[in-house]
Amino acid sequence: PPAETFFETVGGEETFRRLVARFYEGVATDPVLRPLYPEEDLGPAEERLRLFLIQYWGGPATYHEKRGHPRLRMRHVPFAIGPAERDAWIAQMRAAVDSLDLPPEQETTLWDYLVYAAHSMQNRA
Ligand code: HEM
Repeated sequence: PPAETFFETVGGEETFRRLVARFYEGVATDPVLRPLYPEEDLGPAEERLRLFLIQYWGGPATYHEKRGHPRLRMRHVPFAIGPAERDAWIAQMRAAVDSLDLPPEQETTLWDYLVYAAHSMQNRA
């Protein structure tokens, strides 16, 4: 049988739903991050991040069907992401990852990627 994807290993859609819901609960009251989000309703942004992460880790490619090629660096250019914004994103994501209670090896795989991706999204000094 084909090797299990990381998406499946960590618990499939439910895990990413919980992760991203918890993350956006944090964003909603974060004084650094909340002003960056153009829409009052964070629901659509939550769905986009959830679908992207599901696709990235080998789950269904619904993100691509809805949004096309991710081009995430380009899509973040309109938002001023300096060290403070990057670190606020990482801190909210840390709380969200902690809330999943994953086995250490899975948690490390997920966490290392998220930190790397957050640094690569920084677009201001
Ligand atoms: C979109 C902020 C890092 C994935 C957005 C948006 C903002 C934002 C303001 C627009 C909300 C919307 O979708 O309407 C930030 C900040 C980051 C960061 C401050 C700090 C470094 C990341 C990282 C990832 C990511 C590391 C992926 C691992 C996405 C995705 C979208 C998005 C998938 C929606 C793209 C689309 O299809 O339009 N982000 N982001 N972001 N972000 Fe980030």
